[in-house]
Amino acid sequence: MKELKTKQLKIKAVDFWLKKWPVLTSGTIEHFNSMTIGWGSIGGIWWKPFVQVVVRPSRYTFEFMEKYSTFTVCSFPESYRDALQVLGNKSGRDGDKITETGLTVVASKVVEAPSYKEADLVLECRKMYWQDMEPAHFIDPTIEDSYPEKDYHRIYYGEILMINAEDADMELNSEC
Ligand SMILES: Cc1cc2nc3c(=O)[nH]c(=O)nc-3n(C[C@H](O)[C@H](O)[C@H](O)COP(=O)(O)O)c2cc1C
Repeated sequence: MKELKTKQLKIKAVDFWLKKWPVLTSGTIEHFNSMTIGWGSIGGIWWKPFVQVVVRPSRYTFEFMEKYSTFTVCSFPESYRDALQVLGNKSGRDGDKITETGLTVVASKVVEAPSYKEADLVLECRKMYWQDMEPAHFIDPTIEDSYPEKDYHRIYYGEILMINAEDADMELNSEC
């Protein structure tokens, strides 16, 4: 894994979230949880590079996102799709889904939240801001279709403090 400067990061942003399915992890190496995420964004705000993730309060990961100040977003080569299915369909509340994936948890470079050895991209982030989704602000009525149980996401903005990638050109890896 190579450390990249933000200006070196090339990513197909829409595919990165909707198709590649990154993994969100928060906590410490002794006490953490991970889940697959598909909705989010990456960009710049307040003169800082940032990642935005959305977490429903029902997720076990939500408890970690609330308690701890850092998180990581890791993406994986296509061969790990089964592990992403496990992390995205089982809850850490009900058992040790991390061991079931066979993935290797490793310490991150600068944040407390751990990351994964098999990842092809690791974004290490520190929470900057959160906001609850406000249904009264849904201009597009079809958004409500994503919330039959009214469990609106909490949105977290994290400053990207460290980027590590398998390839300097993530464009090679972000297609699925
Ligand atoms: C492809 C995919 C994308 C997902 N994206 C999100 C997301 O962006 N936000 C969210 O709250 N849940 C998302 N989920 C659902 C969680 O990953 C899932 O509920 C998981 O089991 C939660 O685990 P936990 O209870 O251990 O936190 C996604 C699931 C999949 C399969």
